[in-house]
Amino acid sequence: MPTKKSVLDLQQMKRRGEPITWLTAYDFPTAAFEQAAGIDMILVGDSLGMCVYGYPGTLPVTMEQCIVHCEAVRRGAPDTFVMGDMPFGSYQVSDEEAVRNAGRFLKEAGMDAVKLEGGVRVLSRIKAILNAGIVVCGHIGLTPQSSGQLGGHKAQGRTLESAKLLVEDARALHAAGVQLLLLEAVPPEVAGHIRAELAIPVLGIGAGADADGQLLIVSDVLGSFQAFTPKFVRKYADLAGVSVAALSAYVAEVRGGRFPQEEHCYRMLAGEEERFAAWTKERA
Ligand code: KIV
Repeated sequence: MPTKKSVLDLQQMKRRGEPITWLTAYDFPTAAFEQAAGIDMILVGDSLGMCVYGYPGTLPVTMEQCIVHCEAVRRGAPDTFVMGDMPFGSYQVSDEEAVRNAGRFLKEAGMDAVKLEGGVRVLSRIKAILNAGIVVCGHIGLTPQSSGQLGGHKAQGRTLESAKLLVEDARALHAAGVQLLLLEAVPPEVAGHIRAELAIPVLGIGAGADADGQLLIVSDVLGSFQAFTPKFVRKYADLAGVSVAALSAYVAEVRGGRFPQEEHCYRMLAGEEERFAAWTKERA
């Protein structure tokens, strides 16, 4: 029986040098598989926009969609630390709205923490959510919700100037009190520096091995998302291939009359077939 990790357990893992494992999940069965695999943390990412709904990006994702998927994941992984991802528009307008929406993740979907994108520019939102007593994970580097301003989905921190901005953002979030920090698409040299400087777990997705833990998108890991595969992904399965092969076999068997077979049928109870035959004969 797994015991749910708290943010303190995750911080102790950093101190012990134990890598923290983290994956996204969007539904009940995947969350259950991840918990069975012993994952330390789950993120119900707004990447669900692409991986579940087929949107071209994360911007259309709504609070309502996030809450529904968080509820399903919580049911699938009741003993795992699960974090809700605040979608675009849920925290940009005001501190009050940010706190209200962050609170919904905990109140309605039983989340343990929330994540929001941005550094210094969202500091006031982050402080307001922290002041409400909610565990917050910062997210800097490539921040997909503002990829328009970044000129696309581009790695960050590859020049001294850009690396300095990342270090400043990381320090500001740490000073504000975030309990966890995620770096996305950042050079390992910069990630290693930030990780060494901060007392909190600094996790990476596309930030190399010198982080306190690793996050990947489960649809990439299992090979079910096919639109594109970022450089930092390793696929551990080919669900798309396995699924198309299985579904094609079903289509072929139905068309060929090989499915269903006797073992798939509910036969009438003893004596009922004769009664049924007599009844149909009577009516004829
Ligand atoms: O939505 C998500 O899955 C994320 C990761 C890409 C970091 O925010």
